[in-house]
Amino acid sequence: MRAWQGDWRPALTGIALAAVALLSLSFAIRAAGLGWAGLTTDLTGLSRLFAADGRLSNAAIFGHMIPGAVITLLAPLQLFAPLRERHPRVHRWTGYVFFICALASAVGGTTYILVRGTIGGPLMDVGFAAYGVCVLAAAVQTVRHARARRFDRHREWALRLFFLAIGSWIYRAQYSLWYFFTGGLWMAPGFSGPFDQFQIFAFYVPYLIGLEVYFRLRRGAAPAGQATAG
Ligand code: HEM
Repeated sequence: MRAWQGDWRPALTGIALAAVALLSLSFAIRAAGLGWAGLTTDLTGLSRLFAADGRLSNAAIFGHMIPGAVITLLAPLQLFAPLRERHPRVHRWTGYVFFICALASAVGGTTYILVRGTIGGPLMDVGFAAYGVCVLAAAVQTVRHARARRFDRHREWALRLFFLAIGSWIYRAQYSLWYFFTGGLWMAPGFSGPFDQFQIFAFYVPYLIGLEVYFRLRRGAAPAGQATAG
């Protein structure tokens, strides 16, 4: 029974990661395309995020989408065990690319909030800026622990970073599912409906809480002396 479980867990994880990669691919490509368009052409009247007089805000918001697309694509790849185990150099270098793109995307998105603010107002400003800070912190901690060869802690932070990196896609996926099942219940213009307000935090906070619970259970189940520090 144990051997059976041991054989299937990596396979299921691989399938789940492949599903995330496939499902988020078109979002990442469209996001990178919009980012590139916003950086290279005048989108006045075509995108509400583009300001005719907003050099910094345009660079920040459209600039954050390209590294954002990169981390969405790299997130499942970084967790894919066969690649990590057979090609550790690739894992290391894509890890540094991931790190730089995570910082660039978080700084770009947060700069836009500081310069122009979000469409949803102060609550959305806070929720999205906090998301940016979480991405920054998780990227720094993941790399810091890897460099110090604290691999238990590296793995925990890498898992947090995974869910944060695909957070922008989760945000849209949750909206699509909600719209599909409810026809847009509690959604309102300007992201002012109850579901919109819930979504401001629901694309990353529940996943981070779920991970904390999982880490605690796992540490509790580990034999004495093997439990990992938080
Ligand atoms: C890293 C932290 C991030 C922060 C702080 C952030 C922040 C923001 C903000 C403030 C907006 C504008 C909200 C509005 O007023 O409508 C936005 C929009 C957007 N973000 Fe991010 N973002 C982050 C990560 C990402 C990632 C990883 C992607 C993945 C590609 C991404 C893709 C997009 C796209 C495509 C839009 C435009 C949505 C639309 O068309 O309305 N962002 N982001």
